[in-house]
Amino acid sequence: MGTDQFADALALARDAARVEIFTGAGMSAESGLDTFRDAQTGLWTKVDPVAFASVDSWAKDPEPMWAWYLWRGTVCRDADPNAGHRAIADWASLDGVHVGVTTQNIDDLHERGGAEDVVHLHGSLFAYRCTICSRPWKGRIDYPAEPVARLAPPECPLCGNLVRPGVVWFGEMLPQDEWGRAEARMAAADLVVVVGTSGVVQPAAGLPLVAKHFGAKILEISPEPTELSRIADVSWRTTAAQGLPQLVMGLTLD
Ligand code: APR
Repeated sequence: MGTDQFADALALARDAARVEIFTGAGMSAESGLDTFRDAQTGLWTKVDPVAFASVDSWAKDPEPMWAWYLWRGTVCRDADPNAGHRAIADWASLDGVHVGVTTQNIDDLHERGGAEDVVHLHGSLFAYRCTICSRPWKGRIDYPAEPVARLAPPECPLCGNLVRPGVVWFGEMLPQDEWGRAEARMAAADLVVVVGTSGVVQPAAGLPLVAKHFGAKILEISPEPTELSRIADVSWRTTAAQGLPQLVMGLTLD
């Protein structure tokens, strides 16, 4: 593995006082959660992307989608944050640096790994709301012990419509408050560390470019080249759970 890439990455990290970590599904890969587009593990290989992440499909037949999201909730709850999640929290605990997280992930592993300041651009696996009146669902959710083909979503106590996952589906707007927070943090960052995202889904993937426009350096940590590699000052071919701990260890040895 390129030690000069590590040295270059460490040099960027040393100079940064305001760091924003921009993450995608690859951040949780070493926790055992599938990514979306990796050939060998991608969720898409098992699930038709259109059928399981669009408002139209939900309107047509919600039960298979509800079953899939609840199963993903089960898998996520059984997963543990990895060394990469924990390294981000360690970095944030160092003096003289502020570290925020802006994630495309709907899992809660950043929070369970100790990150305190996480923006979720695409919502959360554990937030549910009414499809129509958007009232947050506060009732019980029974996560299946095994994957099942269909499950009936609960009904909203206020208006009687179906409760849906609190995630952003293709074609839907991102939560405006979260988007505003993410943009502001990218504009203020000295360094954006891009970890575990292919950089193909907009508008999220445009955020590192916002940061670069305002003068931030871009460090990418990814085993493969991505759509964002071309804007990275350093693109370090390693994984989240190997690279981030190594980087933070390097900072603590300073
Ligand atoms: N460490 C770091 N990166 C990894 C690892 C790892 N251990 N394993 C895989 N990767 C990389 C892959 O090479 C790929 O570039 O993580 C990236 C995962 O990309 P995607 O599967 O496309 O996931 P993501 O970029 O988060 O998708 C964005 O698309 O499907 C929608 O809403 C969904 O939030 C998701 C969005």
